[in-house]
Amino acid sequence: MEETSRDDRSYWNQRYSDQPWPDEPSPWLIHNAGLLPSPGAALDIAGGTGRNALWLAEHGWELTIVDVSDVALALATDSARGLDVRLTTVLSDLSADDLPSGPWNLVMLFHYLERNLFPEIEAILQPGGIVIGSLATTTNLERNTRPPLPYLLEEGELPSLIGKLEMLEYEEGWLSDRHDARFVARHSVPPISGAREPHTRDS
Ligand SMILES: C[S@@+](CC[C@H](N)C(=O)[O-])C[C@H]1O[C@@H](n2cnc3c(N)ncnc32)[C@H](O)[C@@H]1O
Repeated sequence: MEETSRDDRSYWNQRYSDQPWPDEPSPWLIHNAGLLPSPGAALDIAGGTGRNALWLAEHGWELTIVDVSDVALALATDSARGLDVRLTTVLSDLSADDLPSGPWNLVMLFHYLERNLFPEIEAILQPGGIVIGSLATTTNLERNTRPPLPYLLEEGELPSLIGKLEMLEYEEGWLSDRHDARFVARHSVPPISGAREPHTRDS
C-alpha cells in the first residue's frame, strides 16, 4: 500500500507539474446539472486541479477535493482564490485511506477507479444525495494507452458497483475520444418510520 501511495503521488505530481490539466468542467456534469439536489456539501473524489469542483463552487456548492497529489491540490486552491470561491482540500491516498466521512449531498467520481470506494460512497451520501461520474472501460485501450488496465472498468461492469443506489442515468460507449461508462445515481430516501403502506382499492 505504502509503495502504491508513493507511486501515485510522484506520478501525478510530475504529471501536473509537466503540463496544465484541462480546466473545462466535464460535459456529463453540465448535462446532468438539473438532476443535482439544491447546493450543499459536495466531495470531488480524486478531483485533481478542480475543473469540476470549481465549476460547482461557482454555482453555490461547498466543495471538498480529496486527492493524492499535493501539486494538484495547490493548483486547485490557487484557482479557487482567483475565482473568490471557498474550497477545502484533503491530501489522501485512496488506495489505503477512507473517504472523508461527510455526509455529502453530492459525490463526484471522474476518471479515478478504486472499486472499494463504491460501498463507501453509498455510506457517506445523505439520503437523497447524488453520485455522478465517468470512468473509462477496458475498450478504451483500443485507442488510448492511458488510463492503464488497473484503472479501467470491464465493459458493462459499472451497474454492479452501484449497490443499492438508484441509477438515474447511465450510458457507456465511445462518448468522446474515450470509451467511458458515465452514470448518475441517487441514495434513495428511506421510508419514514411508522408511515403507513399506501391504500389500495381492495384494502
Ligand atoms: C485522470 S486524473 C482525474 C482528475 C479529475 N477527477 C478530473 O476529472 O479532472 C486522476 C486523479 O486521481 C488522483 N489519484 C491517483 N491515485 C490516487 C490515489 N491513490 N488516491 C487519491 N487520488 C489519486 C490523481 O492525483 C489525479 O488527480
